[in-house]
Amino acid sequence: MDTATEITTSNLTDKISRLSISGVLRLLSEIYPGQVSFSTSFSLEDQVILEHIAAENLPISVFTLDTGRLFSETYSVWSASLEKYRVPIKAYTPDYQLLEPFVKEKGPNAFYESVENRKQCCFIRKVEPLKRALAGQKVWITGIRAEHSGIRSQLGLLEWDEANKVTKYNPLLNWTQEAVKKYILDHDVPYNILHNRGFVSIGCAPCTRAIRPGEDFRAGRWWWEEAGKKECGLHRN
Ligand code: ADX
Ligand code: SF4
Repeated sequence: MDTATEITTSNLTDKISRLSISGVLRLLSEIYPGQVSFSTSFSLEDQVILEHIAAENLPISVFTLDTGRLFSETYSVWSASLEKYRVPIKAYTPDYQLLEPFVKEKGPNAFYESVENRKQCCFIRKVEPLKRALAGQKVWITGIRAEHSGIRSQLGLLEWDEANKVTKYNPLLNWTQEAVKKYILDHDVPYNILHNRGFVSIGCAPCTRAIRPGEDFRAGRWWWEEAGKKECGLHRN
């Protein structure tokens, strides 16, 4: 176990359960100055976290993985967020040396043809850029909630991410969907207009659809694949 894991698991877990989200974010940025990063996909959850960071002017780097296949509505939330919060958001884009041969060989929509192609596309457009974004960082803040899926319901507020060698902090882990929506409305937070059209969990445009009432939170993601395979590799836990 390295120092970050040790400090986090032994000393922080108890402490953070008694602090506000802003308090935890501040504490983490004091313990690891310049080494705390927040990844945003401009989801409702991520917008709540961004509001917290901006409201307290916290020294936390914010980045997004611009896969090149996002909805135009997602880019609109990104622009609206820059305008409202004035917090710099760094975009990580896919490595052209990986992307160009992949698209040349398999075409632009290869993800529909096999799980293998889909995972390769996610690796090139998300997982590899994430690795670059988190290099040298100690803490990775995400918008994961327990309600998202069975796997996520098992997680803690703090989790060690072996793939990127960082501690993940999931501040909204125990928030309900209703609480997230209420916060967004109460604080006039910019959000993705697709949420008004039946979209719930939103990723890349070709791999996301609206869901029908009663469908699972993530039913609209990679809907043509079996439920058990629906992770893009960003989150191994
Ligand atoms: S995914 O693994 O299925 O794509 P999901 O959409 O649930 O993840 O998002 C969970 C968290 O992962 C977000 O709150 C955000 O922290 C991070 N995340 C997902 N997609 C991106 C992205 N394109 N850019 C930055 N962070 C992302
Ligand atoms: Fe590619 Fe779809 Fe994964 Fe986006 S979600 S990286 S388009 S396979």
